Amino acid sequence: VKRITTHILQEMKARGEKISMLTAYDYSMAAIVDEAGTDIILVGDSASNVMAGHETTLPITLDQMIYHASSVVRAAKRALVTVDLPFGSYQGNSKEALNSAIRIMKEAGAHSVKIEGGVEIAESVSRILTAGIPVMGHLGLTPQSIYKFGTYTVRAKQESEAQKLREDALKLQELGCFAIVLEKIPAALAKQVSESLSIPTIGIGAGRYCDGQVLVIHDMLGINKEFKPRFLRQYANLNEIMNGAIKNYISDVKTKSFPNEKEEY
Ligand code: KIV
Ligand code: NA
Repeated sequence: VKRITTHILQEMKARGEKISMLTAYDYSMAAIVDEAGTDIILVGDSASNVMAGHETTLPITLDQMIYHASSVVRAAKRALVTVDLPFGSYQGNSKEALNSAIRIMKEAGAHSVKIEGGVEIAESVSRILTAGIPVMGHLGLTPQSIYKFGTYTVRAKQESEAQKLREDALKLQELGCFAIVLEKIPAALAKQVSESLSIPTIGIGAGRYCDGQVLVIHDMLGINKEFKPRFLRQYANLNEIMNGAIKNYISDVKTKSFPNEKEEY
């Protein structure tokens, strides 16, 4: 199979073919996501929430991201693998950002990195790009700044914030980013931004006009029970299926129906 490249993603936008992106954090899940034909696998710092059980994405470390990413890379035969630079691994200065990106590429074997923010991180973005590492931007609701925002509600509803987002998006494209995630912003704004850029936008809670979509795999498969925002379409109820299977197993053990004689040596 031919690997998806950043160049192919640009062509997909140019011909109007939508881009599919999903998260994965481990080998087994990534293998399923890749085999199904997902274009981009994001090793998101949402691993901090769904894998480690933290309330925010802030606690996850660069070493932990590299562990998750290396597991995903071993499974991804076709998808482009993008890895989040975690909180604290790039904000210090552009040299720190470059070193973190290099570790992700070298130790995990990833194909690209994602970084939250606009003009504030311009120097870091261009320094990473100078090393030949493809960079995906991330604007709108940027969860690493949750303590600044205070809530996970829709961003950029006010014109001043919308204007900054438009400028940030153009700046990221000008610097050389290959795509930009737009998280939880009004569909009309995402449409304007998508039309103003030649690089693809990938939306989550940003409406139908983005050039691609991304969801957290545990959310779309219904593994998490509690998380049900409006933007989330749940494609399965794995929580129920897994719960049922596990209950059946427990019951079979308790009633001594598992294992039976065909299941023993
Ligand atoms: O960490 C993550 O899963 C993400 C996506 C929601 C875009 O950044
Ligand atoms: Na993230």
